[in-house]
Amino acid sequence: MSINYSERIPNNVNLASDRTLQRALEHWQPRFLEWWQEMGPTDFQGNEVYLRTAVGVDVEGWASYGEVKMPDYRWGIFLADAVPERTIGFGDMLGQPVWQQVPGEFRSQFRRLIVTQGDTEPASVEQQRLLGLTCPSLYDLRNLFQVNVEEGRHLWAMVYLLHAYFGRDGREEAEELLARHSGDADKPRILGTFNEPISDWLSFFCFTYFTDRDGKYQLKSLAESAFDPLARTCRFMLTEEAHHMFVGETGLSRVIRRTLELIKELGTDDSAAIQHAGGMDFPLLQRYLNFWFTSSLDLFGSEVSSNAATTFANGIKGRPDETLYTDHHCLETAFELAIPDDNGGAKLDSVPMRNAMNEVARQAYIKDCEMGLKRWNMMIKRAGVAVELALPSSRFRRGIGAWYGVPTDLQGNRISPEAYRHGLTQWLPGEQDRIHVHSLMRCVTTPGKMAGWIAPPDRGVNNLPVAYEYVRL
Ligand SMILES: [Fe+2]
Ligand SMILES: [Fe+2]
Repeated sequence: MSINYSERIPNNVNLASDRTLQRALEHWQPRFLEWWQEMGPTDFQGNEVYLRTAVGVDVEGWASYGEVKMPDYRWGIFLADAVPERTIGFGDMLGQPVWQQVPGEFRSQFRRLIVTQGDTEPASVEQQRLLGLTCPSLYDLRNLFQVNVEEGRHLWAMVYLLHAYFGRDGREEAEELLARHSGDADKPRILGTFNEPISDWLSFFCFTYFTDRDGKYQLKSLAESAFDPLARTCRFMLTEEAHHMFVGETGLSRVIRRTLELIKELGTDDSAAIQHAGGMDFPLLQRYLNFWFTSSLDLFGSEVSSNAATTFANGIKGRPDETLYTDHHCLETAFELAIPDDNGGAKLDSVPMRNAMNEVARQAYIKDCEMGLKRWNMMIKRAGVAVELALPSSRFRRGIGAWYGVPTDLQGNRISPEAYRHGLTQWLPGEQDRIHVHSLMRCVTTPGKMAGWIAPPDRGVNNLPVAYEYVRL
């Protein structure tokens, strides 16, 4: 289904056929734009940016590229094409037809899931609003804004579901999505990670690598949902989301490449020397990875969860890539889980598979995170540098679940509270790290030029040269 761009709200859901819904969304639209002006990227709203806009939902050629001022971006409502005669792929109702409406008994669960997902989208825009002022290049500035406008569109995706399927409650929730703000003392965003400020580009790349990837896994789970409009919405969001992780992965790769260049130039990998030369040393990078990885792990929830079991049983939320599994009932199987024992170690516990769905998703996510680390370590090894970056154990620094409050080292071995407190000063970014990283954040806006702490990308956007003027200043 192609997208109708002649309407005020571009869409492929035949919005014009439902006047009430259309009016309600057209009423919400100016509020969204107000929010964008107030809470979106600062300073660059009047500049033309080379952005991609969704123009179809085909895998091939779904986007068009062109210069647009961000407030004029065509945020719209796009669902992936329906799968004919799609049936529920997991849980107690396996094989039954999917739902085109929300069943009354699952209404509040769906509403909560959609609101929680929706809340993260504008939250990340708010977290990143000042980053433009310190961009390492025009290429990066454009990528930041691309991520931001698409997160804005993801908010539209969730608001459409709330308006179309949840009546008055849904409309109220849609207002609330613009009223909560990241880091706000009175009305913060729902999830912890989305209230952490992102005030430097290293954090931005970590966020897009780790936290957007959590988003990918949440969307994958929801793309399996028996509520078909939700599944189709999330399937299309995943297409856009891939770019956000690309920004994170290539951003971190380029920081690493630049660090390797500096090590070669200086003939040492000494942290002080690298920092003095304006780079980011590997121990510092490792501390940032530790921080963002562990705070993203918590977003999956507790290892053992009766809520997860219920949402799976009821067809509300599946496993990421449910089709890869053979048993879609998960009624008779168990999941082996390491939990803390009473003697300062860990023991295996067996829980019903359905109760372990959060952990199943988390483990798939961790595997996905590891792929980038493998590539980076290969690059480091090829450069002849004896450093290996690693992800901490999923037991480390957990804020939720079985390992919450259990002191461990980076490998997940239990240690004393004192050793943990002391360890944290070396394992997580400290004041000195932040001062150094912030000192490197200077705005570079000459087309093709890069800040000294990051290497140029291999190629530009959409076959354009790296030196293209991606943002017209
Ligand atoms: Fe998103
Ligand atoms: Fe994203």
